[in-house]
Amino acid sequence: MTYSVAVSGASGYAGGEILRLLAAHPDTEIRTVTAHSNAGQPLIEHQPHLRSLAHLTLQDTTPEVLAGHDIVFLALPHGQSAQYTDALGDTPLVIDAGADHRLTSPEAWGAFYGGEFSAPWAYGVPELPVAGGKQRQNLIGASRIAAPGCNASIVSLSLAPGVAAGVIEPSDIVTVLAVGPSGAGKSLKPNLLASEVLGSANPYGVGGGHRHIPEIRQALLAAAGTDAPPAHIGISFTPVLVPMARGILATSTAPIAAGVSDSRIRDAWEAAYGDETFVQLLPEGQFPRTADVLGANTALLGLAIDRNANRVVVVAAVDNLVKGTAGAAVQSMNIALGLPEATGLSVNGVAP
Ligand SMILES: NC(=O)c1ccc[n+]([C@@H]2O[C@H](COP(=O)([O-])OP(=O)(O)OC[C@H]3O[C@@H](n4cnc5c(N)ncnc54)[C@H](OP(=O)(O)O)[C@@H]3O)[C@@H](O)[C@H]2O)c1
Repeated sequence: MTYSVAVSGASGYAGGEILRLLAAHPDTEIRTVTAHSNAGQPLIEHQPHLRSLAHLTLQDTTPEVLAGHDIVFLALPHGQSAQYTDALGDTPLVIDAGADHRLTSPEAWGAFYGGEFSAPWAYGVPELPVAGGKQRQNLIGASRIAAPGCNASIVSLSLAPGVAAGVIEPSDIVTVLAVGPSGAGKSLKPNLLASEVLGSANPYGVGGGHRHIPEIRQALLAAAGTDAPPAHIGISFTPVLVPMARGILATSTAPIAAGVSDSRIRDAWEAAYGDETFVQLLPEGQFPRTADVLGANTALLGLAIDRNANRVVVVAAVDNLVKGTAGAAVQSMNIALGLPEATGLSVNGVAP
């Protein structure tokens, strides 16, 4: 069977990457692409790298245009999805790349995003340890999927094995991320101008206000399970914009739980990801670079045990537009539809 697909936000970065992956997917046919201010223009003017889709024209994003497909991808600024999802009740599968359907807590949504709260959908990070298994099990047969925040997913993947195994203290998590400006989207913003970004490392969202914090907290709570939930998950989260178009290098640390041996710590991550294709733990002493995962649906993790500081250190690299968004969306789509999970996705990156 070939599934018909509509992609909204197709002139943007996330929409463009979803299109790039689907163009090579054997089971999907991209029928419709939509945008907002650029509706009416040829897709190829906004995504000149997508040569095989040069015949498509960006249409206006309306419920009528999006309806009638087997699968709809929404890649819109947060807060915009709900107006379409309500009208797509008959669409068998809707996948939202935005934040609108990620959070389960209305209070967290109100505190970090504001505006109307929308119902949570199945969270699109299949490899995340959750009570009783992996998040993958919640995606089988799903009809509504929330793809993750790019920073949130890599920090959650970095620390969830330690939380699930009880080998780290989640009350004192510190994470610092080097992030490329494509994570902030394609619309014009002065802080993303080349003259502001090139030759500089620019912190932003410092001090606990970043919108991905509640998403990480939610994922780590799910990893902890309900038997002995942590009293408090404290996350100090500091992203730093660096001059690379794509990529995230997240360095996350947390205290080692009392009485836990080094081998138990490493075992927790090996047990969590040893059988995974797209989330890989590097051998002891090795740490990833963002260059190793560009264009790949792969998250690479390096683990260190710092006994002087009594902390676990996880350094993780991901391509924010692939495993951080579009790849996670397509991988989740494959699971929901019962297709082989890796269909249309590459574990290999491009280098140099
Ligand atoms: N960039 C990433 O690495 C990343 C990672 C994870 C998740 N996401 C999420 O993916 C979503 C899209 O992000 P992005 O980076 O692709 O942003 P972007 O590059 O700025 O693209 C936004 C897209 O949405 C369209 N759009 C803007 N306002 C709209 C409206 N009111 N109604 C309908 N369409 C509208 C734009 O169309 P026009 O160009 O025609 O105006 C454009 O196609 C966001 O929710 C973001 O949080 C992004």
